[in-house]
Amino acid sequence: MHSPKFAIITGTGMLKLFELEERKDIETPYGSSSLYSVKDLEHICYLPRHGANYTLPPHKINYRANIYALNKVGVKYVIATNAVGSLRKTYSPGSFVLPDQTLDFTKSRVCTFFEGEDGKVVFTDVSEPYSRKVRSAIIDAGKRLQIKIYDKGTYVCTEGPRYETSAEIRAFKKLGADLVGMTGVPEVFLAKELGIEYATIAIVTNYAAGITKQISHSLVMDVMIKSQEKVKPLILESIRVLQEGE
Ligand code: HPA
Repeated sequence: MHSPKFAIITGTGMLKLFELEERKDIETPYGSSSLYSVKDLEHICYLPRHGANYTLPPHKINYRANIYALNKVGVKYVIATNAVGSLRKTYSPGSFVLPDQTLDFTKSRVCTFFEGEDGKVVFTDVSEPYSRKVRSAIIDAGKRLQIKIYDKGTYVCTEGPRYETSAEIRAFKKLGADLVGMTGVPEVFLAKELGIEYATIAIVTNYAAGITKQISHSLVMDVMIKSQEKVKPLILESIRVLQEGE
């Protein structure tokens, strides 16, 4: 793997997105993380956050090892994908939304690299959690490819792996949430702590609990698998836009 400047992190239903070549296990103080090189894309490294065989549930993902590993190999920009439920009628299943804000409702995850070792106390400004530069590259890429992207949304991250109750969704809506998922946090905050420019493409797979009658993982998977044919060119074009701006 050459020193890659760009990383792609994907989740549910995206395992066929790229032809993976070499796997490299990167050791970190938090455990090891497996990064992959992608055929014909030397400057990119790829990280399937649930593992290459989809074995890690959202609360068991080693977010710290993953982000630390990306930083260690020299990654400056991350484009991620997240499957999400929608709390807004206009963001219908199949829609692409670029979150600009997030609400953290996770429970068991370590959300920081800064645990006070060596007497160092660090506070990070996350008032703008997602990278303006990466978000705007994705928006430009969407325009070039004529892929409709909603450019705003508040993403609430729940602990999972269960879906939400209808009451939780009603409460999240009152708090201003538009999208709900299980894997966006702490990924975005850890990237911010290390100064990595990070944004995510949220792919709506369903209306959230209580808005739709029932949520099933197989339906979520189906929508994600179908969306791959649009997500792949969108990510690659976004990276091109970022490279042009370098
Ligand atoms: N809730 C949480 N995570 C999800 C959902 C949802 O409705 N859909 C896809 N990922």
